[in-house]
Amino acid sequence: MITFSPSRRSLLKGAAASAAMTAVAAPALARLRAPEDPFIENLIRTMNLEEKAGQLSIFSDSVRFDGPPINPTPAQTQTRDKLFDDIAAGRVTGVFNGIGVELGRQMQKAAIEQSPHKIPLIFAADVIHGLKTAMPIPLAEACSFDPELAMRTSRAAALEATAKGIHWTFAPMVDVARDERWGRAAEGHGEDTWLGCQFAVARVKGFQGHDLKDGKHVLACPKHFAAYGAVQGGMEYNTADIPETTLREVHLPPFKAAFDAGALSTMSSFNDVGGVPSTANHYLLTDILRGEWGFHGLVVSDYTSDEELILHGYAADGPDATAKAITAGLDISMQSGFYNNYLPDLVRSGKVPMAVVDRAVRRVLHVKKALGLFDNPYRSLDLAREVSDIRTPETVALAREAARKSIVMLKNDGGLLPLPKSGKSIALIGPCIDDKADYPGPWAAFSDISTCVTMTEGFKAALDPSVVLTTARGSDYEAPLDGGIEAAVAAARASDIVVLVVGESSGMSGEAEARVEIVVPESQMRLAEAIADVGKPMVVLLRHGRALALHGAVKNAPAILATWFLGAETGNAVADVVFGDYLPQGRLAVSFPQQSGQEPLYYNHRNTGRPQLTDDMAFKARYREVTNAPLYPFGHGLTYSSLTYSDTQVSAANMSMNRSLNVTATVSNTGARPAHEVAQLYIHERVASITQPVRQLRGIKHLDLAPGQSAQVAFELTAADLAHVHHDLKWETDVGVFDVWIAPSATEGKPATFTLKA
Ligand code: NOJ
Repeated sequence: MITFSPSRRSLLKGAAASAAMTAVAAPALARLRAPEDPFIENLIRTMNLEEKAGQLSIFSDSVRFDGPPINPTPAQTQTRDKLFDDIAAGRVTGVFNGIGVELGRQMQKAAIEQSPHKIPLIFAADVIHGLKTAMPIPLAEACSFDPELAMRTSRAAALEATAKGIHWTFAPMVDVARDERWGRAAEGHGEDTWLGCQFAVARVKGFQGHDLKDGKHVLACPKHFAAYGAVQGGMEYNTADIPETTLREVHLPPFKAAFDAGALSTMSSFNDVGGVPSTANHYLLTDILRGEWGFHGLVVSDYTSDEELILHGYAADGPDATAKAITAGLDISMQSGFYNNYLPDLVRSGKVPMAVVDRAVRRVLHVKKALGLFDNPYRSLDLAREVSDIRTPETVALAREAARKSIVMLKNDGGLLPLPKSGKSIALIGPCIDDKADYPGPWAAFSDISTCVTMTEGFKAALDPSVVLTTARGSDYEAPLDGGIEAAVAAARASDIVVLVVGESSGMSGEAEARVEIVVPESQMRLAEAIADVGKPMVVLLRHGRALALHGAVKNAPAILATWFLGAETGNAVADVVFGDYLPQGRLAVSFPQQSGQEPLYYNHRNTGRPQLTDDMAFKARYREVTNAPLYPFGHGLTYSSLTYSDTQVSAANMSMNRSLNVTATVSNTGARPAHEVAQLYIHERVASITQPVRQLRGIKHLDLAPGQSAQVAFELTAADLAHVHHDLKWETDVGVFDVWIAPSATEGKPATFTLKA
């Protein structure tokens, strides 16, 4: 995935590095080497400028969307007749965020029977975590530490999407998010680049499959290119101001991994990087993406991000923005209509060369061809499949499996969990417990809300019928409820055990939902304090699209599960874990801070010259109020048993550049219950020309251990795993001393050490 350049110290080849960072093998999908396709060249030769601009323009599908508008703007109020006119005139390459086969067929018919060159439309949608069957948010699935799971949920989403007339998903979001104030952390795979690469590859494989033409897979669109996860202060749409070494080492690798896995499209990000908005950033969109990486797919703008070049202060007006965007390498304009409005005249006046327009059209037509749209414009527009392939038993079962595997047990003092299914009465309290509409999660706009399983439903289904389950909302998400706390306290008093479900509503994370304080809202905190005062054993189930800073009664509860937004099967999956039918196995893909003000907080930070290593706080890199430690570190996640790690060893004290090294440790289940453990391999380079993070994840292994069982875990390290970006922006591996850990989280374990020699 990462292109390594030969250097004096490095014997690495790109392929080796690629394999090291992306353990999920890429599909045998032919890379799209655009140029000479006679059919496409002939089309381009005969299209007029207006038609070419049309092939580079996509609009939201107000005709087919049957819910509240997504991203409403005036452009979305276009009428059905206007859209059909535009299709017939060849002014539209496709539409997005509408679903439905019948109308999709009608639109496609208009394109291939009435438009001048009969070029089929491409239908796109934000299929971020499932379509009709909502899957866990990507951040939750990242906590499974199981990329293969994400491949399967992406494949299931593709099945439903294609059954509903979609060819192209605006996913996966592969932005690395180190600041949990950023609402879109929910859509990505957490704070770690290595883990992000594994998930990026897995999702591309799942979405695109082995044959993009088979009608059951969708074109993937790793987004948002680039550095969107680095927006300052975690504020949506903000500037990313990072050194290029960080850009290349932290933020670009998941994109490269996704493209190497065959992804044929990407979306430019809203933000600027060091003052140049991505949508007109030639360095990103052409020099790196195409020049260095050889990407031959298409680049679509984010929603009106070409128009936004004006407000960025990067373009004077519409024509200027259009010229800058297309010249930089932006192929499709989303929603602004700028390419339709301005490209033809810009070419006629000589301001944009025809060759630049043709190049973009060529890319778009090649992608349409790769999808099989020219062979069969009605692919994925099958009325029968619209029924048969939605909510299949396999998909629903997968949604439950994915949800269970995404749950992270943060705390379980005194072994309060799992709870008994009989013999004890339970109070289930929290604003969301019966609120079906909150269950699909922040980016599942097309999902079937009615089939979502709520917490109350899941608990009822799991519990012995004799158990008295009392429910109360207690509070609204961000405001008190009249009499809410009193009713909830009464329910708690009347029960043996309390399960309190608090956190964010699904609308509090996702796009444009940056937060200053990443905490449980105040009204829910008041509820939590009141319930804790009742004094019953209390389990807290967090609902959240990001890491949260936990305080007071929530933080101090004896048992806490991170349950994110888990989608359609939430209630069943949570009950599976709470009542012990399924062993918790999730691991945090994001660090949980003690205080919001610690953000950005990520495990793979640099040491600084004054690290806070002891309690000695004087003149150290630290805040006055809290230590620098996270409340719960990256990689953390408990099981219903107890585990120990011992005997971490390296196979040799010295490693040479062209040889590998084995790292082993013994993991023992010392408790009384079976455990599913996720052993994590971390590395640290002690001295380097660019100071290296205190730890970096380089491998994960899943283990099932019976009570009393021990197993040896082994990882193979190659020089490729030890590389980092140097001042010359190249990935190279330095000779030197490395520490290596096999540990249950990013802050635990004892290192072994080896020396890398030339
Ligand atoms: C804006 C979002 O940033 C992007 O992720 C999404 O794909 C588009 N809107 C289209 O809905």
